[in-house]
Amino acid sequence: MKKIIVSLILFSHTLSAQYTDINIIKEVKVRNKGVVVSAHPLASEAGAKVLKMGGNAYDAIISTQYALAVVYPQAGNIGGGGFLVGVKNNGEKFTIDYRETAPKKATHDMYVDKNGKANTDLSQNGRLAVGIPGSVAGFFATLKYCRLPMNQLIQPAIDLAEKGFAITEQEANLLNSHKDHFQKYNQSANVFVKNVPWQTGDILVQKELAETLKLIQKHGLKGFYEGKTAELLVSEMKKGNGIITLEDLKNYKVAERKALEFDYKGNNVVSMPLPSSGGILLAQMLKMAGYENLEKYQQNSTKTVQIMVEAERRAYADRAEYMGDPDFIQDKTSYLISDEYLKNRWKNFSFNKATPSSEVGKIIQQPKESDQTTHISVIDKDGNAAAVTTTLNGLYGSKVVVSGAGFFLNNEMDDFSVKPGVPNMFGAVGGEANSIQPNKRMLSSMTPTIVLKNGKPYMVVGTPGGTTIPTSVYQSIVDIVDFKLNANLSVNSPKFHHQWLPETVAVEKNFPETTIKDLEKLGYKVEKWNQIGRTEMILMDDSGNIHAVADGRGDDSVAVE
Ligand code: DON
Repeated sequence: MKKIIVSLILFSHTLSAQYTDINIIKEVKVRNKGVVVSAHPLASEAGAKVLKMGGNAYDAIISTQYALAVVYPQAGNIGGGGFLVGVKNNGEKFTIDYRETAPKKATHDMYVDKNGKANTDLSQNGRLAVGIPGSVAGFFATLKYCRLPMNQLIQPAIDLAEKGFAITEQEANLLNSHKDHFQKYNQSANVFVKNVPWQTGDILVQKELAETLKLIQKHGLKGFYEGKTAELLVSEMKKGNGIITLEDLKNYKVAERKALEFDYKGNNVVSMPLPSSGGILLAQMLKMAGYENLEKYQQNSTKTVQIMVEAERRAYADRAEYMGDPDFIQDKTSYLISDEYLKNRWKNFSFNKATPSSEVGKIIQQPKESDQTTHISVIDKDGNAAAVTTTLNGLYGSKVVVSGAGFFLNNEMDDFSVKPGVPNMFGAVGGEANSIQPNKRMLSSMTPTIVLKNGKPYMVVGTPGGTTIPTSVYQSIVDIVDFKLNANLSVNSPKFHHQWLPETVAVEKNFPETTIKDLEKLGYKVEKWNQIGRTEMILMDDSGNIHAVADGRGDDSVAVE
């Protein structure tokens, strides 16, 4: 049956001018068509248009990312980095690591003052927080899997930047709430700051960004890493305490890495290896939870949360101790995800009480000194799949806009462990494995993941959310594989998260109260958070039905070829 079924459009609203018809589509069921799920309807549409033009999933992922850099400035980027996990319809698996690197002038203690105090304001805000952007190099590295040329793939983003588009309510609110930061960290005026507050439907035109994209269109990689764009970026650095040089930019290299693969109950999970902790954490958590026959329980029940949180606690303790850039440290992945190691790690699990975090990892100290990322899931009609998570780190990254080039720079340096035991902006601690060294990649949590059944993509999934990323992807897989839930229930049900330190279990505000009460009785400290993650999920069944769901927590939207 070749009929396309487009159904279950949960809500769709339209903003009123150039790119002013913004239809947010949350859920779609189709056959024999490609789909793109991303954080913004115009970006998903840019990807779907490329599929219509004969492009494949990898063409679509490039166009969607460029479009996100325009329509979703809080996280979409050319000034940040990301990871792509791909599975081609011939079974070939690959990953592209376009994570930012530390500048050559970076040093181990660059955020620690002479009294030994870490200054995380410097690793999180302003020019010193910026790692060498990898995104554009990542897009070019993806090209060899594509069918269409870069000059065509970048065009939708140029049009969106040049002609402008209507901003959503969420973007308007965020731009307004960050105005002070934009003014504090930028000397020059930029299009993100207005005298009057932003309102839903206001048109954001980005002429400087359009010019930068045109330079990339005309000169390829050199249009970003050399010439005018690179010079503007370096002169932006010189306006403050930035240390990125022209040489740093010219020397940036992506890394193509072997995907991290493991079996989960007969499914082959394909995810990101180091320098993302995501794949390892996912393998550790699923395997440990697997020792307890999770399928016997229900989503968000007390026993489920106990098992899953205790697996999270043990995995995140390992993250802090052992994980970092594999080009700089000894890569212990195969040991860390082995049953031999994990069964031993699971030995002190008990249903009777919470395991104290001090029993599963070495706590260096617990000082309290003192987001933004986005995921895209794509499948094309030929069965090629791509999962990409890309980030500026915090919302609008370092808040620094490259004057004259019109794009935000990341604050990814904060993902390093700036000092052993000092939490980063997501509360994650680390040690020497993730310490700062020139040219090193900072440890990530991004977990773009493709699950295969009988060798074919069954699930394409990922989310933003800092350290909550691996735990959200973990919940998604358990929901589908163990609890047999549908994609909508998995994506939109309340989530929970634990990361060894702090000892708290975070739950979304609508989490079942009975489970919270039970957990508290067992010694868990539970904290309510507004929201966890923004998951984009595509499920494919054996008979070729595709079910795509964009997270209800944001402007996330599905587009069909
Ligand atoms: O790479 C990482 O793990 C972080 N920079 C991701 C940040 C993030 O997801 C923020 N989004 N909410």
